Amino acid sequence: MNTHRLVLAPMQGLCDDVMRDLLTRIGGFDECVSEFVRITHTVHSRQTWLKYVPEIANGNRTYAGVPCTVQLLGSDAENMAVNALAAVRLGVDKIDLNFGCPAPTVNKHKGGAVLLKEPELIQHIVQTLRSALPPHIPLTAKMRLGFEDKSLALENACAIAEGGACALTVHARTKVEGYEPPAHWRWVRKIRDTVNIPVTANGDVFTLNDYIGIKAESGCDSIMLGRGAVMRPDLARQIAQYEHGTTVVEAQFSEVMDWIRLFFDLCLKKEANNKYPVARLKQWLGMLRKVYPEAQLLFEHIRTIKEAEVLEQALSQFEYTDKAIFI
Ligand SMILES: Cc1cc2nc3c(=O)[nH]c(=O)nc-3n(C[C@H](O)[C@H](O)[C@H](O)COP(=O)(O)O)c2cc1C
Repeated sequence: MNTHRLVLAPMQGLCDDVMRDLLTRIGGFDECVSEFVRITHTVHSRQTWLKYVPEIANGNRTYAGVPCTVQLLGSDAENMAVNALAAVRLGVDKIDLNFGCPAPTVNKHKGGAVLLKEPELIQHIVQTLRSALPPHIPLTAKMRLGFEDKSLALENACAIAEGGACALTVHARTKVEGYEPPAHWRWVRKIRDTVNIPVTANGDVFTLNDYIGIKAESGCDSIMLGRGAVMRPDLARQIAQYEHGTTVVEAQFSEVMDWIRLFFDLCLKKEANNKYPVARLKQWLGMLRKVYPEAQLLFEHIRTIKEAEVLEQALSQFEYTDKAIFI
């Protein structure tokens, strides 16, 4: 039986609801996770939850019907539990906890990766949320291998499992390692062999070959794709084709161009204000150009454009063939 599972990574400031919508439409993903919702001392309003995770209003699914989990970040277990319950009352049906964010502002307030220095606190947070939430609401967690080093990796993973999380995602790097390659896929295997809950492996899957590599080294059937899915929007689709034993067909740039136009339309629909669609498209092209030379040409062409209407026109006029670009 084919048990593979592909999850789209939470990526604050990069994979918002529009990017999740687009990537899950392209296909291959079984689940996605929201950008982290930071919990401090307040309880978020309905408006705030829906701003961060509009999928809640659509039965916790993206337009394409892929389930979306809500991720929380914080260290005040009790208030996180109050917030999680408020989210569940709104209809949220799955919660993930962030124990990996490396951002200094977040860490300074005792959120994200800094918690990996304190496995007891991690266990307390997971346990508190598990006891507060109705039993049918799955609670999961995502961790890095540690803060400065990996000495507490297994202890933290056990704390998460013993706290009552039903699954764990491991980004195979410490906080200090940032996003520097390599990701330590072997470490995910150690964790997988230690805890009694399913483990999802994550880190540095940019191609189908990387996917084959992370599966072999980590021993996991469930893989999370982050930046690779943004840079190569059909990566999950290629992986699904590979797993289903059908021919793997890589997207041509003409198809990527259709996705670029759709993405821009979706951004405009979300916020017609010039800045958002223009900034989001430039950010995405900045990543696409690492894979597609055509995206580099488009990026150069639109780099100085500031108005959404002008950019929309440039996109509609951009054409690519083997020999020429007609703009
Ligand atoms: C811009 C950016 C924002 C991120 N935001 C989050 C987040 O909100 N929550 C989280 O758990 N991880 C976050 N991550 C980490 C990713 O989920 C993932 O673990 C990491 O990028 C490694 O996977 P990759 O090599 O496939 O990108 C973020 C990563 C990036 C690059």
